[in-house]
Amino acid sequence: ITIRRATVNDMICMQNANLHNLPENYMLKYYMYHILSWPEASFVATTTDIEVLEEEKEQLAQNKESEILSLEDTETGAIIKLDPTYVAPGEKLVGYVLAKMNDDADQKDEPLNGHITSLSVMRTYRRMGLAEKLMRQALFALREVYQAEYVSLHVRESNRAALHLYRDTLEFEVLSVEKSYYQDGEDAYAMKKILDLDE
Ligand code: ACO
Repeated sequence: ITIRRATVNDMICMQNANLHNLPENYMLKYYMYHILSWPEASFVATTTDIEVLEEEKEQLAQNKESEILSLEDTETGAIIKLDPTYVAPGEKLVGYVLAKMNDDADQKDEPLNGHITSLSVMRTYRRMGLAEKLMRQALFALREVYQAEYVSLHVRESNRAALHLYRDTLEFEVLSVEKSYYQDGEDAYAMKKILDLDE
């Protein structure tokens, strides 16, 4: 498994992994916004294992037509097929972290700070330390490249695995509980970690 910076070429796979793993999903332009604005902040974990890639190919072959979205190019009229299960050739994405700097308008009295928008690891690749590695890369980049003094995120109250990762492994602190933060009414823990230069 390789961990490397995410590029625009990874966006479709990141969106696809996000759809698989989390109910909070984003339009492709939101991934684009992250990667173009803070190109060094987001990371992906990928594998080039031949057996895994072969399996993936078989799965793709079995995909239902309904999973393929078709669009018409307005200028040429050509049909563009958007495949939500697209995989980059020669590589399978198994995890990602999507991170940004906080650029909200109400931030003017705050020191520079980052935000973890989304993190997930595909089921069969969990408990191998990938999420921790992805997070540490993102935190380091937010600090070193973008001068973030702290980083924040939200996590579902019921998400034991993620809570363990953030609170115990990465030493985030719980700032507050945000009532009904999620669309389905679940509360979120708002978490924060001060980024020290010497970590
Ligand atoms: N139960 C308890 N602790 C867990 C679990 C679990 N199921 N999974 C991981 N952990 C702990 C590990 O023990 C480890 O701590 P330790 O080794 O120091 O004891 C720590 O969390 C990190 O483990 P990793 O192996 O790095 O985590 P993994 O790669 O399995 O990914 C993740 C964890 C991202 C939460 C994964 O389970 C996942 O993708 N879940 C679904 C998506 C999700 O919930 N994403 C986070 C949403 S919040 C957000 O995006 C801002």
